[in-house]
Amino acid sequence: MGQDPSTPQGANKFDVTKFIKEGKARRIVVLTGAGISTSAGIPDFRSPGTGLYANLARLNLPYAEAVFDISYFRRNPLPFYTLAHELYPGKYRPTITHYFIRLLSDKGLLFKLFTQNIDCLEREAGVPDHKIVEAHGSFARQSCIDCKTAFPEDLMKKAIQRKEVPYCKTLQCNGLVKPEIVFFGEQLPAEFIKNLSLLADADLCIVMGTSLSVHPFASLPSLCSMSVPRILINLELAGDIGSRPNDVLLLDDCDAGVRKLATALGWLEELEALWESSKPKVKEMDQKKKMRSEDEELGAKVDDLTRELDATLKISNEHTSRVRSQLTKDSNIEKPKSLHDGSEDESRKVQDESPQPETSGGLKHVFPHI
Ligand code: OAD
Repeated sequence: MGQDPSTPQGANKFDVTKFIKEGKARRIVVLTGAGISTSAGIPDFRSPGTGLYANLARLNLPYAEAVFDISYFRRNPLPFYTLAHELYPGKYRPTITHYFIRLLSDKGLLFKLFTQNIDCLEREAGVPDHKIVEAHGSFARQSCIDCKTAFPEDLMKKAIQRKEVPYCKTLQCNGLVKPEIVFFGEQLPAEFIKNLSLLADADLCIVMGTSLSVHPFASLPSLCSMSVPRILINLELAGDIGSRPNDVLLLDDCDAGVRKLATALGWLEELEALWESSKPKVKEMDQKKKMRSEDEELGAKVDDLTRELDATLKISNEHTSRVRSQLTKDSNIEKPKSLHDGSEDESRKVQDESPQPETSGGLKHVFPHI
């Protein structure tokens, strides 16, 4: 492509910085994917090795995407709820890239943000609700997949905390409930369809942190007019960006990319200040982390107790058998066969029914900070 990947310039040396500075970009459309949240600690989907789809083996899925497939969910909703427990919003701090989008909005330049992400970090960074189109839905609402009745948020939170599958409260329905995340095989939100026409009215398009591999989202950049500059800030090439004369490639980490762009525009100080302003929330995050580790400690204690209880039960059953056989010998009374067999069976039953320590280790290898 013959472009310098470290400067915000297009193949024909199109100067996007000048374009924005001269006020020619007043209706900026931003298109985002999981790559803008990886520095917050949320893995993306398809990066080899670190992506979510490469790390779902423990959920025993027939194929990785099944965790977000509606037909599979109907048969087996538990893998999704196991994952939802890890991904549920509230645990992560928005990245400087999220704050860059907020800055565009504060400056009155953000026309619309179309995001594929379900982590709600754009909202948390203060991008106004009416500027966001959550193309693949989000955890913000939940409903029954059959009768579509809304499900109470507090009950959903509890279910996700406990990794339990919630069911519809409507009498005679009892359908499965799920957050309104769009699964493979489901319709995209009406909001998405309603706002598609905005792409043609945009005067600048910024694509960040997405492989552009899931349609119809992947085709959004092509809905911009041919002359409209499109900037890609991503670790790798995505879609057809780079094929038009005014396309600009910033093949870099998103946070580094937005800092470069902000520097070129003279906005860096403002951006860093905005980013810093989110720090009070870090205290809350630390508190949450602390609560998480207290939960983990409690979990570990329960595991220890369970193991001790198992061991005690085993010892006491062995002890009982030994005393019984000693008594039998001592009293020289022949033991009825059924009692002997029964005692062994009973001992096995107690061990089998005793709580087993959880063998699966969570997604700690994917979310090392959890
Ligand atoms: P992908 O995992 O497909 O793509 C993420 C892109 O971001 C890749 O091109 C990475 O190279 C890039 N990337 C990762 N970290 C980055 C960083 N720090 N800086 C810059 N680039 C980075 O994720 P999406 O494109 O969002 O759908 O995936 C689209 C949809 O596929 C998701 O919404 C999800 C999934 O199946 C549903 O859940 C319905």
